[in-house]
Amino acid sequence: MKLPLLSAVAAAASALSLSAFAQAPTAQVDPTAFLNQFESTFGKFEGYRRSGAKGICATGEFVGTADARGLSTSSAFSGKPVPVLVRFSVGGANPGAPDNGKSQRNFALQFNLPGGELWQMGNISAPVFGASSPQQFLGRLASLQPDPQTKKPDPAKIKAFADENPEVLLQGKHFASLPVPSSFGSVNYWGVHAFGFVNAKGDKRFGKWIFEPTDGLQGLTDEEAKAKGPNFLFDELRQRVKDNKVSFNFNLELAEAGDKIDSATVPLPAGRKKVNMGMLKVTSVSPDAGGDCLAITFNPMILPKGVEPSADPMIAARVAPYVLGLGRRLIEGPKQQ
Ligand code: HEM
Repeated sequence: MKLPLLSAVAAAASALSLSAFAQAPTAQVDPTAFLNQFESTFGKFEGYRRSGAKGICATGEFVGTADARGLSTSSAFSGKPVPVLVRFSVGGANPGAPDNGKSQRNFALQFNLPGGELWQMGNISAPVFGASSPQQFLGRLASLQPDPQTKKPDPAKIKAFADENPEVLLQGKHFASLPVPSSFGSVNYWGVHAFGFVNAKGDKRFGKWIFEPTDGLQGLTDEEAKAKGPNFLFDELRQRVKDNKVSFNFNLELAEAGDKIDSATVPLPAGRKKVNMGMLKVTSVSPDAGGDCLAITFNPMILPKGVEPSADPMIAARVAPYVLGLGRRLIEGPKQQ
């Protein structure tokens, strides 16, 4: 399905409803301030996403399980194949970000459900995000901004902010503890926010999801990563999909009473019941920098009936910066490679 640019903006903007913001008691950050801060901290790369700049479009198919139908009425889980638009990307605003670094990989999805209903999500290769509130995220980005004299971030500023906000370091520790992923298809992707799943009886269960590769996790040794160089992930993905080897289990960890479910920096306690909601198979990869994911944004408030946001303030806080970011890059001429 090819979304014309204007309807892509309209779809994204539709989530800017009052109900979206009613979910977030935390004060919002001006989306312009966010976008400007991304550019000041990481540089301005015209046409590219200000986060997850280097990416590739793909398509896939999702089939839900009976267990998922017991938890949610969403048509995503009907058991019939659902077409999914996929975007894989390397973390950061720089379209030249190396594929062989211990950094973030992203997995953004749009489930194209019956009747034109959409479900969008952006998942990351860490169980936690780098901040728990929009204000903290803006502060962290500001602390990383290069000094105009030295053109480098000021270590004292970074340290002062992190000392006051220690949870901003958790995500980096996760990446440092793991090898460089061999493939976009060989790493876990977490939703990091809790969402509510509502079933036919009206029961709502909160949980956090993980997309886990059915072929298992695969990483590179430091030597292998060096030998691969900075641009191997796109061709590797094309080959792996041709070999029918890229699929993920959509697993939902269920929260128990008393669990913290309003923070993207606090995972659920270990050992929570994990329900397999279905399997997503990636079936084709764009041969070039184009594709249907290029000119849209993946807005985490675009949810299907049967799935609802939690009180995590970061969910709604993402909406306006994504829509504004989409607007900026459409005007500049969208690019991703
Ligand atoms: C207030 C907090 C956040 C801000 C301001 C922010 C900002 C952005 C922006 C501007 C983009 C590019 C959007 C576009 O041009 O389409 C983006 C992409 C992305 N963000 Fe965030 N983000 C936030 C929180 C998060 C969180 C908590 C996650 C964790 C799941 C996340 C995951 C992603 C992913 C996966 C992408 C790439 C999506 C794609 O491929 O289009 N972001 N973010």
